[in-house]
Amino acid sequence: MKLLDNYGRIIKDLRLSVTPRCNLHCLYCHPLDWEQSEPPGTLTVEDVRNFLAAMRLLGLESVRFTGGEPLVRKELSQMIEAAREVGVPDIAITTNGMLFKRKAKELVGAGLGRINLSMDAVTPEVFKTMTRGGDVKRVWEAIETAWELNLHPVKINAVMIRGMNEAEVIPLASLSLDKPLHVRFLEYMHLDNSNPELYRARFVAGAETKAKIEAHFGPLQKLETDPSAPARVYQIPGAVGTIGFINPVAEPFCSNCSRLRLTSDKKIRPCLLTDLELDIAWAFEAENSLEALVDAILLATDRKPAFGNTLPKLRERVMVGIGG
Ligand code: GTP
Ligand code: 5AD
Repeated sequence: MKLLDNYGRIIKDLRLSVTPRCNLHCLYCHPLDWEQSEPPGTLTVEDVRNFLAAMRLLGLESVRFTGGEPLVRKELSQMIEAAREVGVPDIAITTNGMLFKRKAKELVGAGLGRINLSMDAVTPEVFKTMTRGGDVKRVWEAIETAWELNLHPVKINAVMIRGMNEAEVIPLASLSLDKPLHVRFLEYMHLDNSNPELYRARFVAGAETKAKIEAHFGPLQKLETDPSAPARVYQIPGAVGTIGFINPVAEPFCSNCSRLRLTSDKKIRPCLLTDLELDIAWAFEAENSLEALVDAILLATDRKPAFGNTLPKLRERVMVGIGG
C-alpha cells in the first residue's frame, strides 16, 4: 500500500524525534533558554513500535531517529529494535556524535543501518564556537566507529553560517577526496523567525558554497540520487566520497517531499517549515491503537501543505524540538 498526499506525493519516510533534549547548544538550532525535559506523555518504546507498525501498513520505507539529540534518550536502542521488528527496511539516525562511540555497538546490534553526523567545521575552535562547547574529536571518533561497524554511507551535515564557518568549506569538501564520506552543505533555515536582519546577514546560499568549491577543485560531477531526498549530490572528479547541497531556502524541494515527522510529545508535523501539528495522543491510547494510528496518519497526510510556510511569524517550536 502507498500513502499519497493531496498533491500526489508518496509519503514513505518518517523522521521520529525521540527527545527535545540535546547535549550541545548549536547557535543555529538550540536557544539557550530552550526547555530541556521529557515531560510525562513523552513517546515510549511501545508507542514507537505501534506508530511504526501503523506506518508500515501504509508503506513506510525509512525511519530516521532524531532529537534534540537522539542518543540522550536511553531507550533509543529499544526503539531501533522495535523498528527492525516491525520490518522498517531503512533505519537511520541523525546525531551530533558526542555519545556515539560509547553506544554504537548496542545501536547497531539493535538494527541501526546508517548514520548522519552534524559537523559544521573541522577546525576545533570553530566547531566549539558553533556548538557552544562541542569537541570535534568526538565526531571523528564517531565516524571511525561507524566505519568499524560497517555502517555505510556515513553522511556529514555542515550548516553554513556567514561569519562563522565560511573558511571551513574547502577543508570540509576535502574530506570527501580520500575518505568514503558524504559531506553535505546545508543552507541555514530560520526556524524561529526572530531577528530577520541577523538571519539575512548570516545566510549563505548553497550556490555560493558550490561556486567556492568549484573555484578550488574545478567543476563538480553531478550524481543521480533519489529525488525525494533533500540533497543534490556531486563529486570532485576522482574523489572517494561525495559532496551534497541541501538548499531548502534558495531551492525548496517541497514538490518531492516524502516525509512526515512525529515529535516526542506525540504530534504529527506534516511539514518542517509549517507550524501545523496534529496532536495524536488519543490514538496511542485508543483501544484499537493500530487502527486509530492509521486514521491519525491519514488525517495528518491530508493536511500536509504543498509548500513550507515562509510567513515571517515567530514559530511555536524551534529546530531542536523538531529534529531537522
Ligand atoms: P537521508 O537523505 O536519508 O540521508 O537523510 P536526510 O539528509 O534527509 O537527513 P538529515 O537528518 O541528515 O537532514 C539533513 C538536513 O536536511 C537537515 O537540515 C534537515 O533539516 C533538512 N531536511 C530534511 N528534511 C527536510 C524537509 O522536509 N524540509 C526541509 N526544509 N529541510 C529538510
Ligand atoms: N538550518 C539548517 N539545518 C539545521 N540543522 C539544525 N538546525 C538547522 C537550521 N536552523 C541541522 C543539524 C542536523 C540536522 C538534523 O539539521 O545540523 O545535522
